[in-house]
Amino acid sequence: MNAETQFDTKTNVSKDLYYAVHKGIRLANARMLVALGQADATNEDEVRDVLDKLAAHLDLSLSHLTHENQKIHDVVEARLPGGSDHAAEDHDHHLVGFSELRRLAREVEQAGGDRAAKLRRLYQRFALFMADDLTHMHDEETELMPLIAAHFSPEEIDGIEHSIVSAIPPAKMVAFAKFMLGAASGSERVTMVTGMRQAMPEEVFEGLFAAIMGEPWRFGDWERMEHVLC
Ligand SMILES: [Fe+2]
Repeated sequence: MNAETQFDTKTNVSKDLYYAVHKGIRLANARMLVALGQADATNEDEVRDVLDKLAAHLDLSLSHLTHENQKIHDVVEARLPGGSDHAAEDHDHHLVGFSELRRLAREVEQAGGDRAAKLRRLYQRFALFMADDLTHMHDEETELMPLIAAHFSPEEIDGIEHSIVSAIPPAKMVAFAKFMLGAASGSERVTMVTGMRQAMPEEVFEGLFAAIMGEPWRFGDWERMEHVLC
């Protein structure tokens, strides 16, 4: 772990592959942990709802990990062999975590009178996964990103980011955008949304944001966006 690292204030955040998406994942992990803790084991609907949320959360986490493996680690390895070894080991560890969480979720689903105990185990295991993920994301931001920034040009880093974003199917993009916008500061949110508006045709932008917000949204209504996503 790299928790003692001095934060590199020289790193330009706009060229940081991890900044916005990791803030979104931290928010999503935190909300997921709280939802698991609040679910009432005696209420079928609440249990079903939280298990559906967990399945979607693990899908999204797996997508994120796969993007990093395919679009970041492969590129780093081609130039700096071994440069992404630590992050890749963490990713393998995460895959074990995903399958354990899926198994514990199935146990909750199939449980009888011991459902509360099974749900508590799932909650505890998710908390450990989240702790690992927080450490892992910190290491990526403070070890791997500075390594990338030192060996790749800003244009190449933009290219990596573009290759990640352009490979995400629309439904996944909506899910990522919800968390990334929800976790951003107000001014970051305005910058992100304005950039997206400039990058796509008006009707595509409107459709995307109707899906993100779950309702039609008028560009500039930041108050409503904050209310829905934050
Ligand atoms: Fe990662």
